[in-house]
Amino acid sequence: MRGGAFRSSLLFLLLPILLILHATTVHHLRHHNNAAADPSLSTNSRWIVDDRNGGERVKLSCVNWVSHLDAAVAEGLSKQPVDVITKKILEMGFNCVRLTYPLFLFTDDKLGSMTMRQSLHKLGLSGSVAGVQVNNPSLVDLPLVNVFQEVVSNLNENNVMIILDNHLSKPGWCCNDNDGNGFFGDLYFDPEVWIEGLGRVASMFKGYDNVVGMSLRNELRGHRQDLKTWYKYMQKGAETVHATNPNVLVIISGLNYDLDLSFLQTNPISLSFNKKTVFEIHWYGFSDGDDWITGNPNEVCGRIINRITNNALFLLDQGYPLFMSEWGVDQRGTNDNDNRYLNCLLGWVAEHDLDWALWSIVGSYYYREGVIGMEEFYGLLNWNWHEPRNSSFLEKISPLQTPFQASDLSNTNEHKILFHPATGLCMQSHSLSLGPCSEAVALDYTLEKILSVKSTNYCIQANEVHMPLTLGIMCDDSSSKWEAISASKMHLSAKNKNGTIVCLDIDHKNIIVTNICKCLSTEYLCDPSSQWFKIINSTSFNIAPPIVSISQI
Ligand SMILES: *[C@@H]1O[C@H](CO)[C@@H](O)[C@H](O)[C@H]1NC(C)=O
Ligand SMILES: *[C@@H]1O[C@H](CO)[C@@H](O)[C@H](O)[C@H]1NC(C)=O
Ligand SMILES: *[C@@H]1O[C@H](CO)[C@@H](O)[C@H](O)[C@H]1NC(C)=O
Repeated sequence: MRGGAFRSSLLFLLLPILLILHATTVHHLRHHNNAAADPSLSTNSRWIVDDRNGGERVKLSCVNWVSHLDAAVAEGLSKQPVDVITKKILEMGFNCVRLTYPLFLFTDDKLGSMTMRQSLHKLGLSGSVAGVQVNNPSLVDLPLVNVFQEVVSNLNENNVMIILDNHLSKPGWCCNDNDGNGFFGDLYFDPEVWIEGLGRVASMFKGYDNVVGMSLRNELRGHRQDLKTWYKYMQKGAETVHATNPNVLVIISGLNYDLDLSFLQTNPISLSFNKKTVFEIHWYGFSDGDDWITGNPNEVCGRIINRITNNALFLLDQGYPLFMSEWGVDQRGTNDNDNRYLNCLLGWVAEHDLDWALWSIVGSYYYREGVIGMEEFYGLLNWNWHEPRNSSFLEKISPLQTPFQASDLSNTNEHKILFHPATGLCMQSHSLSLGPCSEAVALDYTLEKILSVKSTNYCIQANEVHMPLTLGIMCDDSSSKWEAISASKMHLSAKNKNGTIVCLDIDHKNIIVTNICKCLSTEYLCDPSSQWFKIINSTSFNIAPPIVSISQI
């Protein structure tokens, strides 16, 4: 309890709330931490599952590890030993890496056989060479292909799942419409060379149990984009990968920088195999320019989610997993466009419990777009790859790292939890405040919009403005009916006993309160995110209903 002051002013007094944890009925979701013993993933309807483990769900919580820039080598090796970077990835709660590569690393023998020392020297990066000599002395004189293999090996040994992502053809920063890497037929994008390269990569990494997926091509784009060509070569690429290594998930991206798969609504892809196909999309704040700060965040959030539903989310209903393989923000917290986008995105990803890969692990690049040692403010590590850039960002996204839902249909522990994206926290039983989502209180949300504590008669009721929520047993009045309002559908609103329409909000101590609804529409200077909540399907947390006793004042 948070002290007597607010308690005494509750309409209903919450007497001791006892949490009785019962050990039964709990479905334990396995983290993918013993992947070496069970290499093969497949799909079961919209979920990715582990064949060797009774078909249990595996949630990909990945981070992008960039390995496709000019030097054609995994970033960071001049700053930290590869094993240290891998262990940091695990420590930060990820179970997977989306490892990017340039196609030519595997199709141009001159590039693939160049040593890391030569590649860095060619770019004038003597400082990086010195750094690699200190941190990864055994790699510095290996050919670039072997350096890539060593990174995969290290991730593999540490039981990190790996998705090999063909990011572009010619090493360099990605992407723009005219960089020659955008679409089949572009200067550096000969479809036959691409197919050949995919085959080589599939074959080369067949023996690595933790290589669980291959992304065929990142962010197709540019004026050559054409659906007929897309179907032709995506199908060919997918068949090549599957024929060479039938264990891996084949991950397919759409058009227009991975924003658009809408054409699959009417014309599904046709492949000779099944249970191995996953689609990927990207979503950044800057995908929509500065809309997040020039528009009302509810309207922007609602509009973009509608678009993504139409462009990609429908694939879940078609029985495919959707992998959000790039998203991220400037982790300094100074970009309001990103900050507003992030709260919308977190609610949406949690609601659909998607598989995802954050951009990125990189603290700084060897060389990007002509700049030596460029810092990556969207990266999890700081410039020297030693510390997390922003631990509060990591905490905020951490609920996404564990599954909310199991794919096990026999699971009977289905319930709702209440998620608050701006803090990354969930409603607890203890005084209905916010706390870790792993200790979220299990709720029911009925067709009548009544939000109640699961397996109890207690419903959650709106109180006076600024006051904490109350629990009641008379649940048929308007103070117990919670509507998702505003264009974002993330405001939860009810009418309190005084007839005032209020919204869920949080106070400075993370207690959930009701306040006058804010920033519902038109205002663009106003940030609604303290009032943004999501009611989320959950099966996975070890949650028991609290035993609640109440008495009326
Ligand atoms: C971390 O992110 C938060 C929230 O965006 C921000 O307020 C804070 O200043 C950031 N901290 C650092 C060290 O960048
Ligand atoms: C949540 O579960 C309900 C009931 O099973 C289902 O109808 C709904 O589609 C689910 N929502 C999401 C976002 O999966
Ligand atoms: C209604 O609001 C008034 C002040 O706005 C407050 O004094 C009163 O206690 C409220 N009554 C209820 C039942 O919420």
